[in-house]
Amino acid sequence: MSFEPKNPVVKWVEHRLPITGMLHHALYEYPTPKNLSYWWTFGSLAGFMLVVQIVTGIVLAMHYTPHVDYAFTSVEHIMRDVNYGWLLRYMHANGASMFFIVVYLHIFRGLYYGSYKAPRELLWWLGLVIFLLMMATAFMGYVLPWGQMSFWGATVITNLFSAIPLVGDSIVTWLWGGFAVDNPTLNRFFSLHYLLPFVIVGVVILHVWSLHTNGSNNPTGLDIKDKQDSIPFHPYYTVKDLFGLAIFLIFFSAFLFYAPNYLGHPDNYIPANPLVTPAHIVPEWYFLPFYAILRAVPDKLGGVLLMFGAIAVLFALPWLDKSRIRSARFRPIYKQLFWVFVADCVLLTYIGGKPPEGAFIIWGRIATIYYFVHILILLPLVGLFEKPRPLPASISEDVLPKKAASGETANA
Ligand code: HEM
Repeated sequence: MSFEPKNPVVKWVEHRLPITGMLHHALYEYPTPKNLSYWWTFGSLAGFMLVVQIVTGIVLAMHYTPHVDYAFTSVEHIMRDVNYGWLLRYMHANGASMFFIVVYLHIFRGLYYGSYKAPRELLWWLGLVIFLLMMATAFMGYVLPWGQMSFWGATVITNLFSAIPLVGDSIVTWLWGGFAVDNPTLNRFFSLHYLLPFVIVGVVILHVWSLHTNGSNNPTGLDIKDKQDSIPFHPYYTVKDLFGLAIFLIFFSAFLFYAPNYLGHPDNYIPANPLVTPAHIVPEWYFLPFYAILRAVPDKLGGVLLMFGAIAVLFALPWLDKSRIRSARFRPIYKQLFWVFVADCVLLTYIGGKPPEGAFIIWGRIATIYYFVHILILLPLVGLFEKPRPLPASISEDVLPKKAASGETANA
């Protein structure tokens, strides 16, 4: 559909730079499957959280000092002296958690409805790149307040690279910019923590561009066949997404105003001390499943490889899943396995937060093995042998009463 703006100024710009037309197409007329559930609001919520993190982060950076002697106190200064500094800082710190909650739900939605399958493989890959960038950004951000967990978390995680044969130790020294986590480390982490969110914005643009090239998947997993199957994005999904946002903001505010430190670790209110190691070094909750996988292997290099492998296998998912049917709604066995996989990830998260001793070690190993068995063995096999339930002929047939789906309206 060609877009002809009425406003003369917009028209003048549009003929030289068709940016309003592009936005009009993407946010207004974009033909969207008419049966999207609330699971499809998490993409726009992730976009919202990215903006919140960038805006609050920029203002925090105006008052923060990336130096080992001042970092901790500059954060205290933000909390106590800067007008609404406490709000900014709590929004940013809890915002990171909210961002991960939303993105994890977004990923699991994709797994359930087979959104990673052709022709959306590249869209899935771009999502995984965003996820990796998000983890790098969050890790470096957590170091900035220069509390005990900041310092020791940074030490443990950067030290993982020392497991690489021959060059490991040199890589760690290079990452640190010295012979321990110190001022050069803090400085470069601050620089990269400021930069990476803008790289994420770039990849999100590619992500949404790729989405709009083939259109959204939907709960049936069927493609849009004719005009009846879709509705314009505005006003239907703008309103639905705004409602989703309102509910989400209540959830976010509950943490922000009633339990702003619930998701953090108390040790990070102790200034970093290289001479005192905390009893348990635990990362933020959103890293715990990967931390559990890392610790499931007694060998350091093995643990590191398995941890990175846990994400690497997700890149192969579109080819590992052999089923021709996208949505788990019509895949009776996969549907059950999906929930076992969810439970397994929850178990990994729980184990990641516990000390590596006794039964936690055993359960950590079982959950790690299941993670890989699910993706590398069960998923391909189920795709080959499962008998899917009969599919509706179209999206319309699935959501409308029989008469309407065949072309007659209810009132006719
Ligand atoms: C900053 C983070 C991200 C943002 C802002 C973002 C944004 C979006 C938006 C706006 C949509 C369309 C609405 C929707 O389907 O919910 C979408 C779809 C999608 N995203 Fe993301 N996304 C992000 C991260 C990810 C990650 C980490 C993955 C997977 C690893 C992913 C995979 C997908 C897939 C497969 C779709 C298509 C879903 C479908 O049509 O069923 N995204 N994303």
